[in-house]
Amino acid sequence: MPKHYLIANWKMNRPPEGADQFVEKVRAAAPDPATTVVIAPPFPFIAQVAASLRGSPVRIGGQSCSTESRGALTGEVSAAMLRDCGATCVLVGHSERRTLFGETNEIVARKLTAVAEASLVPVLCVGESADIRDRGEVVQFLHEQIASAAGSLGDSDEIVLAYEPIWAIGTGRNATPSMIAATVGPIREAVRASWPERMASNLSILYGGSVTPENIDSLWSTGAIDGFLVGGASLDSGRFLSILDGMRDRRVQAGTGS
Ligand code: 13P
Repeated sequence: MPKHYLIANWKMNRPPEGADQFVEKVRAAAPDPATTVVIAPPFPFIAQVAASLRGSPVRIGGQSCSTESRGALTGEVSAAMLRDCGATCVLVGHSERRTLFGETNEIVARKLTAVAEASLVPVLCVGESADIRDRGEVVQFLHEQIASAAGSLGDSDEIVLAYEPIWAIGTGRNATPSMIAATVGPIREAVRASWPERMASNLSILYGGSVTPENIDSLWSTGAIDGFLVGGASLDSGRFLSILDGMRDRRVQAGTGS
């Protein structure tokens, strides 16, 4: 069964309230046993945030990692280093890495191998640009992103895929619930067609792109996704925890969990 996730991607930002304050608030909040909460801070904060969260079910994620395990690669951070600092998962192929830092599907595949070798959970990010959507090529584009990852996922049982349309990231223009439902279907088909069956059945699919406490109810009501990858609204503990509450409230209304 796919797990539910809520992931905070701070990108290259600090929460205005301060990382320690943010973590304290999230730690003190009522836990939602049905949702795995992850905070993905910039690299220099990972060890600090991990130390503050010791003993809490909240997990730590890296925002990226090197394709390599060691070497003369100034500025790079290996997956094993992230793990040793307390991370349990890593975002791979975020669209900002793909578009701003030239990460191709091939580089993403090599990073996935590095993540598997470090026994971390990959959060593979996929998503189309506005042009691709306008040209009606979304399904084919996502299929290529998904199929190119197939041989690099190791033998993990826990794999997360985040569908983040590029045009929805940081724009305040989230994908509509019907658009998400219509895209997640072909994503699951692409996964079933190219990934081992065991991975396909356990795969959690998240949505990311202008997720806020205001739109969480309608986004979550699709029932098509297993959680959210949140950027801007994850920088404020109150807003981040409202999203978590929104996930829990709807589950309670639907009678499907705590
Ligand atoms: P926003 O929530 O700011 O749109 O960012 C989404 C994202 O890129 C999360 O990885």
